[in-house]
Amino acid sequence: MANPPQIAILGAGIFVKTQYIPRLSEISNLVILKAIWSRSKESAEAAVEIARKHFPGVECKWGDKGLDEIIQDASIVGVAVVLAGQIMVDMSLKMLKAGKHVLQEKPAAASINEVETALSSYRAICANATCKPIWAVAENYRFEPAFVECKKLMTEIGDMMNVQLVIEGSMNSSNPYFSSSWRRNFTGGFILDMGVHFIAGLRMLVGEVLSVSAMTSHADTTLPPPDNITSNFQLENGCSGVFVMAVSSRSPKIFWRIVGLKGTLQIERGSQDGKHGYQAFLYGVNEQTKSFFYPFSGVTEELKTFIHDISQASLKQGNVDYEAEPRISYLEGARDVAVLDAMLESAAKQGALVPVRKF
Ligand SMILES: *[C@@H]1O[C@H](CO)[C@@H](O)[C@H](O)[C@H]1NC(C)=O
Ligand SMILES: *[C@@H]1O[C@H](CO)[C@@H](O)[C@H](O)[C@H]1NC(C)=O
Ligand SMILES: *[C@@H]1O[C@H](CO)[C@@H](O)[C@H](O)[C@H]1NC(C)=O
Ligand SMILES: *[C@@H]1O[C@H](CO)[C@@H](O)[C@H](O)[C@H]1NC(C)=O
Repeated sequence: MANPPQIAILGAGIFVKTQYIPRLSEISNLVILKAIWSRSKESAEAAVEIARKHFPGVECKWGDKGLDEIIQDASIVGVAVVLAGQIMVDMSLKMLKAGKHVLQEKPAAASINEVETALSSYRAICANATCKPIWAVAENYRFEPAFVECKKLMTEIGDMMNVQLVIEGSMNSSNPYFSSSWRRNFTGGFILDMGVHFIAGLRMLVGEVLSVSAMTSHADTTLPPPDNITSNFQLENGCSGVFVMAVSSRSPKIFWRIVGLKGTLQIERGSQDGKHGYQAFLYGVNEQTKSFFYPFSGVTEELKTFIHDISQASLKQGNVDYEAEPRISYLEGARDVAVLDAMLESAAKQGALVPVRKF
């Protein structure tokens, strides 16, 4: 590529250091990391130190002044917003308003109310702008090859009869995110923060969730509440299912199982040759079974998609109709939050049936 687009990362936490910088450096032929910003000078410097090996020109920015410099720098066409869940939407909107394309980390918003304000602010910005900035949300599951392949297999199981999504997580003190302070002060706790990935995978396979009825509990007091949720849900296609999530369990297990009239599809978290990923099984007629394993690569695929989209949008400058890949759209991320928000609302009402808000 003649002129790779230049981007900045806003945030310098664990995920920036362990995912964004390494994944971007693998595709440094497609993108230039121009700057890393953090509220504090020390954390911006620590991240820049890691990034410099692959992006020698990366600049270190901090505080209000650093943020202004990124906004004013017209060569920076896109930003990745990787901050605390409570402040991400405000920061994304600020950047969109400044004309930058934004890839925001999940969750798309902290609540359904925030989703609504976010969407109306984004519409106002787009109506005002000559070139509609792209707002993408990084949730990676819509890009995981196992899910992409399984979506294609959905026709083989026939009409859906039943869906199970079981998440027994391992968020204990050995996990680097366990003590992350913003997650401890986040309504919905780890259920919302982690749950959006699994709901993204679910929606991708079985379609939209119409309504839910849920119960929550708080069993492990070292975790923020709730740490446990069980929800019934009804899909738009009439099929019903169950979503079970325990944030921290002794023997982690994560699976989706979709039972159809002609077969059953199961996707299970696992590892092969030392690589983590998802194993899928298709049980068809006459006991025929198909099985495959794909290691995780959704973060890279998603970054490539965002970079491709912002390059295309820049080429077509002035063409306000440029449509980014729908799988990274803010709307998709918002729909995942809507499902979990409805579950949490239902749990707060002792399991009352709550419709999922549509966007
Ligand atoms: C629209 O543009 C005007 C003039 O540039 C600006 O004052 C206003 O804040 C913008 N509104 C939004 C929602 O971006
Ligand atoms: C946390 O969970 C992982 C995975 O189940 C386990 O290997 C590890 O021993 C656990 N750590 C603690 C402190 O319980
Ligand atoms: C927790 O979040 C609320 C609202 O999001 C905020 O007002 C408060 O300052 C936060 N507290 C801590 C300790 O971060
Ligand atoms: C989840 O809740 C159930 C019922 O309240 C409780 O027995 C279980 O220990 C909880 N599990 C975790 C991992 O918190």
